[in-house]
Amino acid sequence: MNGKDRTIKDFGEQWLKYPDNEGYYGSLELFSDILSPFLEPKDIKNCRVAEIGSGTGRIVNMLLESGVQHIVAVEPSDAFAVLVRNIRNSEKVTCLKITGEQLPPYRDLDYILSVGVLHHIPNPAPVVEAAFKALRPGGHFFVWLYGKEGNALYLSFISPLRVFTKRLPHFMLSFLAEIMYWPLVLYIKFCHILPLPLKGYMLSVFEKMSPEKRRLIIYDQLNPSYAKYYTRQEAEKLLIDGKFENVRIHHRHEYSWTVIGTKP
Ligand SMILES: C[S@@+](CC[C@H](N)C(=O)[O-])C[C@H]1O[C@@H](n2cnc3c(N)ncnc32)[C@H](O)[C@@H]1O
Repeated sequence: MNGKDRTIKDFGEQWLKYPDNEGYYGSLELFSDILSPFLEPKDIKNCRVAEIGSGTGRIVNMLLESGVQHIVAVEPSDAFAVLVRNIRNSEKVTCLKITGEQLPPYRDLDYILSVGVLHHIPNPAPVVEAAFKALRPGGHFFVWLYGKEGNALYLSFISPLRVFTKRLPHFMLSFLAEIMYWPLVLYIKFCHILPLPLKGYMLSVFEKMSPEKRRLIIYDQLNPSYAKYYTRQEAEKLLIDGKFENVRIHHRHEYSWTVIGTKP
């Protein structure tokens, strides 16, 4: 199995174990944080949208809450069944069990979102190309990616660890996430008084998550076979090479990249 297929399999197993989107993790408050500063949920109201890599439908439900007209939700893994089950208003959603590069060339979508997905695809260029074809002229592609800048200390810790953890079965990985959860709780407390790495993310996002979702986020970092941390230049290039114009980039909480581009 290649890196792409292994990662899809990893996520299928992950989302069957962590199927719900409760609390801040699935909230419009978090969606506003993800979209900021380029978009607000109200910008997407009454629009035709696709999401590439929908997982358990967290972003799909956020889009529904924002008042979109219709969503195409793309999820290639076994999580597809969870996605279908979790969707709050199925009349407005078309679910497709396909990979991102197989997104049909609709040519009439107003927005395509891909949140936390392209950094798990070894060759994302065909996915960007499919997004370009599916948008209408003037439509926007919005992407959220792991960042390299701001994560130096974290990466020196997690990268060697992932060599082993991405091969672990679920019960060992969930046990490891449980062990790592407690020092992390302490780290968040120190973030309140010291200028520690990832302080912005810890206090603005991670601390607001329930204990269960914090464990999921740790698991999510350790599980997928493929994960790339993008530099600013690589993140911008992804959309520029895909022929998008007016490409803008934001260093979200100084640890990740939000990139948006427009189809001319
Ligand atoms: C970290 S999850 C993000 C899920 C969702 N966007 C969210 O924010 O809750 C990444 C998702 O991308 C999916 N994925 C992986 N490879 C993909 C591909 N080639 N095309 C489309 N989706 C893919 C995985 O199956 C997984 O559900």
